[in-house]
Amino acid sequence: MHKYYSFMKYVKYGKSGLYVSIFALGAMTFGDKNSWKLGGLSQEQTNEMVKRAYDYGINLFDTADVYDEGESEVALGKALKPFRSEVHIATKVRGRSGKGINQIGLSRHHIRESIRESLERLGTDHVEIYQMHSFDYHVPIEETIETFQDLVERGDIDYPAFSNFQAWQMALFNATARENHYEHYHSAQMNYSLLNRDIEQELFPYMQHDTLSLLAWSPLHGGVLSGKYGKNMETKSGTRFGDRGVFPPFDQESAKYILEVAEDVAKEQDCKLANVALSWVISKKAIVLVGARTLEQFEENMKSLDINLTSDQIKRLDEASSDREMYPGWMIKRQDRGRDFEKI
Ligand SMILES: NC(=O)c1ccc[n+]([C@@H]2O[C@H](COP(=O)([O-])OP(=O)(O)OC[C@H]3O[C@@H](n4cnc5c(N)ncnc54)[C@H](OP(=O)(O)O)[C@@H]3O)[C@@H](O)[C@H]2O)c1
Repeated sequence: MHKYYSFMKYVKYGKSGLYVSIFALGAMTFGDKNSWKLGGLSQEQTNEMVKRAYDYGINLFDTADVYDEGESEVALGKALKPFRSEVHIATKVRGRSGKGINQIGLSRHHIRESIRESLERLGTDHVEIYQMHSFDYHVPIEETIETFQDLVERGDIDYPAFSNFQAWQMALFNATARENHYEHYHSAQMNYSLLNRDIEQELFPYMQHDTLSLLAWSPLHGGVLSGKYGKNMETKSGTRFGDRGVFPPFDQESAKYILEVAEDVAKEQDCKLANVALSWVISKKAIVLVGARTLEQFEENMKSLDINLTSDQIKRLDEASSDREMYPGWMIKRQDRGRDFEKI
């Protein structure tokens, strides 16, 4: 029985019949090879964090074939064994998996090889969500779509999904899927935080139109939105930026003001800056991929479930972090003046 079950909220996953928790646990820090210098959590530490997440009612866990060269999938698969039937795994394909010219991308060859290896590493016979880690300009999309459909029909995956795609690419995939009566692509996993709102301009309208869920990656922007680097981005070893450098990229000048406003809101809410940043992402109806190197960070981040930002606080955060509206977005709005009734 879930200890904290009542705190967690669940939402429908895309157009599917699956309900997923609004917090999902990211497994990028798992795997003690630590080849990407992101965390290097041991199996024991992974078990502990995964169990804690399960106790909070988290039922979605996100990994990728390339995280720690496959070690993240291995560690996550072992940690999920005791409750595999209650939880859902999302993994990814497209990254380089070997030296061969075709051991990368979204070709039939690479997808088939990758799913076989991912299932083996995860110790499971299927994954619920299989995401393309980004678009591949080298492979005809028909080849990728047909291969994904084969995986659905074989029962290797339940739902195909996107990550790091542009809106037109997602629209083309889903239109082709529709024409062929193939499974819909139900979600997009994208970088989204107070420090990067790019996807609001093209992706949000498309995703709303075609009913896709957003899985927000790096919601703390790699830890910057915990406030621990201060406004001058002072890094030290033992932290993501100290060990690995700045990623995801962001505008450090405008970040100073955004951090200032978020700190004010944190004081008003009597919580940590990280909680404000995560709550703001939740307020945009995203599924938040929580990332943590330690159990303490994980616990702190989970407190965001209890934060209810007021509409005034959300407005101030929105204004502080807003980007220039891009063309043709502003022209469409301009020509639509006066039509304030509900859109399709
Ligand atoms: N699809 C993609 O291309 C893509 C890309 C990136 C991530 N992802 C997914 O998104 C998940 C989350 O991404 P992320 O790890 O970058 O998320 P994040 O929340 O932006 O950053 C997490 C990192 O910030 C630091 N941190 C977290 N909570 C903290 C706290 N309360 N106080 C201080 N520092 C804190 C930790 O790093 P340190 O302690 O090491 O500083 C932690 O590892 C990943 O696990 C992965 O599943 C997907």
